[in-house]
Amino acid sequence: MELREEMTRAREAIRARTSLQPRIGIVLGSGLSALADSLDDATVIPYADIPGFARSTVHGHRGELALGHMRGQPVVVQRGRFHFYEGYSMQQVTFPIRVMHALGCEIVILTNAAGGLRPDWPVGDLMRITDHIFLPGMAGHHPLRGPNDDQLGPRFPPMLDAYDAALGHLAHAVAQEHGTTLRDGVYVMLAGPTFETAGELRMCRTIGADAVGMSTAPEVVVARHMGMRVLAISLITNQALPDGSPANHAEVLEAGEQARPRFGALLQEIVARA
Ligand code: HPA
Repeated sequence: MELREEMTRAREAIRARTSLQPRIGIVLGSGLSALADSLDDATVIPYADIPGFARSTVHGHRGELALGHMRGQPVVVQRGRFHFYEGYSMQQVTFPIRVMHALGCEIVILTNAAGGLRPDWPVGDLMRITDHIFLPGMAGHHPLRGPNDDQLGPRFPPMLDAYDAALGHLAHAVAQEHGTTLRDGVYVMLAGPTFETAGELRMCRTIGADAVGMSTAPEVVVARHMGMRVLAISLITNQALPDGSPANHAEVLEAGEQARPRFGALLQEIVARA
């Protein structure tokens, strides 16, 4: 089936449940599903009920789309994302972003859990992604590989301006008002699911990354393909240092839980003013 047809089918299935027309799409990362639990008049739709959607298999990720109002803004929230390491194609990983666009979203806000590559950044810090290095994409696992639908976006979309400057400024203004640390940095995406070796971490640092993770870059690429404005924020859930202690999934989830009030308040205020 054509991609646009699949998007329409998913949109119609969602529209059959709610007439809400979201303006902002929100993707919640590992351990962060609860960031947007406080939607007003929420309609919650399991992925299983949406044609074209895969299922989320990772612990710490739910598998549902929630539509409702957050601080007065109509939003659609993806609670639980699809990862390439789960075995999904890059097209499956990014399909929810396509559907957000089909529903009318102009803005996508992505969150994720990431390993901090800088020794001076403690666990719990937030990082606004200013740029990414999409290693699987550079190696050919790219969501835009294959025929291009010119009605959705260009064959060769630029990525120099992938992360919206105005949304970045807004995020920093809100963080300052809240007294929340928000750093700027470059996110490198690796396929996973192994955490990095010391050599891989040194490489990530050498190529200019500040945080490492296993998501987000493909979704950003697809959002930009369709002209949506993007804000992405990483929660540093662990320090990923060549001479540090090994990362584990439990500490990633724990850091997400700890950061929830702070990260949730920041996200909601950004949404209110976006
Ligand atoms: N590496 C890769 N992905 C991650 C990490 C990490 O250290 N922490 C959270 N997601």
